[in-house]
Amino acid sequence: MAASSAFHFPIHGASNDRLKLVAFNPEQHCETFFRLSFPHPELYAHMPMLAPSSVAELKGRFYDNPPGNILSFSNPESFAFAIIDKTRPASAEDPEGELAGTVSLIRASPTDLCAEIGFIVILPPYQRTHVATNAVGLALQLALDSPEQNGLGLCRVHWSANTTNLASVKLAERMGFKLIGMIPWHMRFVKGKVHGKIGNGKGLPPGSDPEDLWRDTLSFSLGWDMWRDGVRERIEKAMAR
Ligand SMILES: CC(C)(COP(=O)(O)OP(=O)(O)OC[C@H]1O[C@@H](n2cnc3c(N)ncnc32)[C@H](O)[C@@H]1OP(=O)(O)O)[C@@H](O)C(=O)NCCC(=O)NCCS
Repeated sequence: MAASSAFHFPIHGASNDRLKLVAFNPEQHCETFFRLSFPHPELYAHMPMLAPSSVAELKGRFYDNPPGNILSFSNPESFAFAIIDKTRPASAEDPEGELAGTVSLIRASPTDLCAEIGFIVILPPYQRTHVATNAVGLALQLALDSPEQNGLGLCRVHWSANTTNLASVKLAERMGFKLIGMIPWHMRFVKGKVHGKIGNGKGLPPGSDPEDLWRDTLSFSLGWDMWRDGVRERIEKAMAR
């Protein structure tokens, strides 16, 4: 199994009866991820990352060293999971089910005991099902449960969403995140118009490349105290639906 040996925290994956998160293994997961995502460039419309042009390019994003992006195994702040849908039959990607997408812990800090759930992509056949709720629910349990409960014992998990990404915003709200605020002009999508990105719909700043777009970001947070005081229970119910 591929592992992010550089990640700040030890990770053993997470599982329930419908879904599991395992370390993303490029040799096992990239081909199917690419095949199912390549016809849907809109999956990347709300994020800075560009759609990969080949399986080899996608694999390279995991192996680059020094780390050039959030997926790099050599990036100690990141850990990428493959999402396995256990309600589907065994496949070449996993003996317990099918590859339904990917989700990562990013910007992890062992000092501040925090991480962000990021680069979540649910492959189109698995969208609007139990998959997103269970993938985020398992990632939250892994992050916020105590080490005695097999979690990392983090104190805060963050979620960022393009203001125009309704599915991401609704998912964050369903999973108990609290909206902290909106960061205007948060990210520049360089040549975003050419790359099919969706911007903030505002005019461009003076001197901009006319093909650029900008993203405004909604910032969400979930602290250990909210987790203890009801969110964990609420999420368990959402996952069981
Ligand atoms: C964002 C994403 C992970 C959400 O997963 P999903 O399977 O679509 O989401 P869910 O079925 O759990 O639904 C989330 C909510 O958004 C709604 N929704 C889903 N797709 C939507 C769309 N295209 N437009 C509007 N609402 C949408 C659902 O109806 C649901 O609403 P509800 O809570 O009121 O029932 C998925 O759409 C995705 O992979 N998008 C592309 C990648 C991306 O943008 N990732 C996030 C940024 S890193």
